[in-house]
Amino acid sequence: MTKITIAIDGYSSTGKSTIAKQLAKALEYVYVDTGAMYRAVTLYAMRRGFVDGSKNDISLLSGSLSEIKLRFEYNEVLGYSEMYLNDENVEKDIRTLEVSKNVSRVAELQEVREKLVHMQQEMGKSKGIVMDGRDIGTVVFPDAELKVFMTASADKRAYRRYKELLDKGEKVTYEDVLKNVESRDYIDSHREFSPLRQAEDAIPFDNSDMGLEEQFERMYNFALRII
Ligand code: C5P
Repeated sequence: MTKITIAIDGYSSTGKSTIAKQLAKALEYVYVDTGAMYRAVTLYAMRRGFVDGSKNDISLLSGSLSEIKLRFEYNEVLGYSEMYLNDENVEKDIRTLEVSKNVSRVAELQEVREKLVHMQQEMGKSKGIVMDGRDIGTVVFPDAELKVFMTASADKRAYRRYKELLDKGEKVTYEDVLKNVESRDYIDSHREFSPLRQAEDAIPFDNSDMGLEEQFERMYNFALRII
């Protein structure tokens, strides 16, 4: 079987990572959650006070990027990779609503995008990869053999994310989560550098009324047709 590159892009909380993870497992491919990388940089910026803090000047982050070391480490027990920021496991800390509220502003910065896109391209050099994000099919791997663009109605997406956060013990309201999903979509789609948009050759995939099993079956079949 030929190894290919699979790019899964789409709006916030469409369940990209759940399906991407399953697909990678079934194909024995590497899975990369690029949102985790933007979230880890955001956590760093928040801790340094560059966003919503004492310094509160996001442009200061650009000068500190060389201090940020990111890596994924596979957790055998969990069966997926976790995000490390300067050798600290930050998998839980990057998934909070606080980080979600700041991440899209951080992801607008050109220097941040250049650093992360370069890392992502290195990770995918030998193919056999499923990567999800916002600009994978358009910027990171414009030549990916399979591109999927995921959408779902905003209220369905917000509800899914709301349940996820509640399950993790975060005290959030549905309205807050919906506001965050909509505002991230807006910033992500309107930013100057590599905005979120569907690649011309991407397959549109609306999962508003689809269960996980059906989503996986469809994606897996898309991949099998090419491999
Ligand atoms: O995928 P996730 O929702 O965790 O991504 C968090 C945020 O990171 C997005 O809302 C977006 O602002 C940014 N992001 C990005 N480009 C990517 C992946 C994520 O700008 N490839």
